[in-house]
Amino acid sequence: MFITLEGPEGSGKSMQIRELADFIRQRGFEVFTTREPGGTFIGDQIREVIMRMDNTMMHPNTEILLFCAARAQIVTEVIRPNLDKGVVVISDRYGDSTLAYQGYGHGLDRIVLKEILKFATGGLTPDLTLLLDVDVDEGLNRKIKNGSEWNRLDAQKVEFHKRVRDGYLEMAKAEPDRWRLINASNDPQKVQHDIREVISAKLESVKL
Ligand code: TYD
Repeated sequence: MFITLEGPEGSGKSMQIRELADFIRQRGFEVFTTREPGGTFIGDQIREVIMRMDNTMMHPNTEILLFCAARAQIVTEVIRPNLDKGVVVISDRYGDSTLAYQGYGHGLDRIVLKEILKFATGGLTPDLTLLLDVDVDEGLNRKIKNGSEWNRLDAQKVEFHKRVRDGYLEMAKAEPDRWRLINASNDPQKVQHDIREVISAKLESVKL
């Protein structure tokens, strides 16, 4: 089973994923977690190029292709082989991040983006996507408070991040079978509780 976590900045995905992975393991499943961009030797090098604060001259098309290059690598090297072995793969971001950030955020053609995504992933789509939704100002403030890594994409204007969040909400609404909305403004324990409820229901449909 392939599960992805998506959300705007400061939604607390990475912390929640660790606890979620433990929970799924306790239920007897093998779990592999990963994050984008990165997660492979080649992908981590691509991540560095994307995130460097001084790469301000990067064209949006270049950015898309770099995200998708890292994704092509992780899909073939890590995600598909694990799924083939029956492992539950949880990814911190996946193709929907490209649609949210580059599509809704930068305003690039989402039909074209979907074609590029199909090429990069060989058409692999998640079985379940959790949207950890948080208000933009709240999310960005959390990131500043936590002293989290502040990258070139975080530094975009607040308006950009609002478009990203609205984009996520629109995608979740358009494809309700795959997406589940989680209110990530709640305290972390409540967020984890809500995530586990959704996952438990999904796991019940899978035979061990
Ligand atoms: P990261 O430090 O991993 O942040 P987060 O904890 O928010 O996931 O940085 C990833 C950044 O890259 C984040 O700002 C979202 C952005 N991004 C895109 O713009 N497009 C993409 O396709 C992906 C995967 C990420």
